[in-house]
Amino acid sequence: MIYPVVKYGNPVLEKPAETVTVFDHALRKLVEDMFESMYAAHGVGLAAPQIGIAKRLAVIDISFKEDPKAKLVLVNPEIVRTEGKQRGSEGCLSLPEFREEVTRPLRVTVHAQDATGKRFETSGEELLARALVHETDHLNGKLYISHISALKRDLMKRKIRKLMKAGEW
Ligand code: NI
Repeated sequence: MIYPVVKYGNPVLEKPAETVTVFDHALRKLVEDMFESMYAAHGVGLAAPQIGIAKRLAVIDISFKEDPKAKLVLVNPEIVRTEGKQRGSEGCLSLPEFREEVTRPLRVTVHAQDATGKRFETSGEELLARALVHETDHLNGKLYISHISALKRDLMKRKIRKLMKAGEW
């Protein structure tokens, strides 16, 4: 099932999501649906709040279907280590059409659980590091626009308000 992606302005995107405690069939179905929804939206990462579900769950595939091993399911992820810095363009499916330069760590290590509840550690650099912090931020109610200047953020918000008024958001 493909869920529509919730856009900026919906409060679910700006509150911390709840820890996942039940690892059942429904969770695994939700994970499948999240991959399907992410691919349908042409994204490389999707957090559950972005489909209106306030749970600490995210999926990532920076290969966009090219490499099955790149599919990453993160349940209750925590960033445990960051190293270095990278600056680059970043977007979000909940803020369509916008992109901004964002400084992120170059290497990131995460502790998380998989869809069966098994704990694991994973690390990534460059685009994967960016995706790991971006998606974990979502689960803490944080969007990438909190990492850009107030001036750029206000400009973006003004543009979004205009789009909302025009019924285009
Ligand atoms: Ni996002």
